[in-house]
Amino acid sequence: METQAAPNILIVDDEKNMRFLLREALAKEGYVIDTAENGEDAVSLVKARPFDCVLLDLRMPRMDGIATLEELNRITPETPVIIMTAFGSKETAMNAISLGAYDYFTKPFDIDEMRIVVKRALEKQKLEEEIRKLRGCLEIRGAFKGIIGQSREMVEVFDLVSKVVKNDVTVIIYGESGTGKELIANVIHEQGPRRDSPMVKINCAAIPETLLESELFGFEKGSFTGALQRKIGKFEYANHGTLFLDEIGDMSLVTQAKLLRVLEERKIERIGGNESIDVDIRIIAATNQDLSKAVHEKSFREDLYFRLNVVPIFLPPLRARKGDIPLLIDYFIDENNTKLSREICGVSRNAMRLLLAYDWPGNVRELENVIQRAVLLSSQDIIGEDCLPTSVTDSAPQTPRVGGPPTAFDGSLQEIVENIAASAERQIIIDALERTNWSRTKTAELLKICRKSLHNKMKKHGLFDEQKTPDGFDAD
Ligand SMILES: Nc1ncnc2c1ncn2[C@@H]1O[C@H](COP(=O)(O)OP(=O)(O)OP(=O)(O)O)[C@@H](O)[C@H]1O
Ligand SMILES: [Mg+2]
Repeated sequence: METQAAPNILIVDDEKNMRFLLREALAKEGYVIDTAENGEDAVSLVKARPFDCVLLDLRMPRMDGIATLEELNRITPETPVIIMTAFGSKETAMNAISLGAYDYFTKPFDIDEMRIVVKRALEKQKLEEEIRKLRGCLEIRGAFKGIIGQSREMVEVFDLVSKVVKNDVTVIIYGESGTGKELIANVIHEQGPRRDSPMVKINCAAIPETLLESELFGFEKGSFTGALQRKIGKFEYANHGTLFLDEIGDMSLVTQAKLLRVLEERKIERIGGNESIDVDIRIIAATNQDLSKAVHEKSFREDLYFRLNVVPIFLPPLRARKGDIPLLIDYFIDENNTKLSREICGVSRNAMRLLLAYDWPGNVRELENVIQRAVLLSSQDIIGEDCLPTSVTDSAPQTPRVGGPPTAFDGSLQEIVENIAASAERQIIIDALERTNWSRTKTAELLKICRKSLHNKMKKHGLFDEQKTPDGFDAD
């Protein structure tokens, strides 16, 4: 139902004059009005399209108001029904309310009172609609249990994923190693209509080219030396389910051509066989490569790229969403406390500073490993910097603080001043980002600059790595 459009109201009354009067009064409020002169007509109108509110006369010939009310409640329980009763029949009105009517007014009615009752019903209806929408969002969020992220970048990913789970579109997930591509692929399968059929995964990079084809298509007994018995391929195993083609960018051009044929014809033939087998599968692909570049360089077929790139999902690298780091740390500490029977309750301030400053080339997987190691090593209930690997501790920025001495006289006074100013600016931005948990909006506010200018300065100071951010990752 369009919440922005003018509310539409159905008036149900057997008296023509009454319908006319009510229509006049309510149309003035900007509502869109429909009328019905009996219960049956009202029911068929409501079945045809939703109304935001129904005004229902209780005393009508044939199907009376109460029977109509019950029917309306059954068809659209969310539509408030206001009943109209003759003066002095309060008891009937109460009875109707106990049967689910929203409110009532008595006839002859006071126009202002009637308008207020209708307005209130519409407000309630709108509020409930919003609650229903929110509840829907929460259910979708519940589907992402175990995928941590509150950054704008991750919320955008969750929104996109929740749009594609319910239908069967081909999805390709781009992201650096360890960003959670497989985790997202799992959610898409598990929340989608094919969840009761298998999800078959194949890592195109890990299987030698000569074997990839037989893995995918299977083979018939005797089709080549060593084919001692028939083997069913992944396509067949995945029938009615999902085939996850991981590291698709590493597939050879020969296999790409064969995959394209399957995607076009939705049929396969086992190697050495001539029976054509129908396959009904959903494809989810993943890669840490820039496929459009691979197409440009002719190492990936353009036609296959278009077949796969129906809904691309870009997973941002961890360094582009550092605000998620503290959440992920908590999550991994909890997980490892259970796994390793420890009771670690957090990380020290200094350790957090180092963890936030680090670049995370291995993304979430690397963070997961670092935290697991730290939980294991820590002799206290707080993880200190001594439990972090040197890769993390040694990479902390060594820039001089504001007011610190210049490290070398290696230029003119102006150049030295500019260098110090640049270092100081970088450090101030890092401090502000850390203070705000890497929220760009809050950092820009804190530093009293606009977001665009913060973005440019972060770029200038290498505070997020744009080169490694594939196209479409909006790191800001
Ligand atoms: N947002 C997240 N919340 C919680 N755990 C995550 C998240 N993202 C990734 N992980 C964890 O990090 C590890 C790596 O994730 P995953 O295997 O899905 O990454 P990937 O992108 O497929 O990596 P690769 O390209 O190396 O195969 C997994 O253990 C996964 O559970
Ligand atoms: Mg993976």
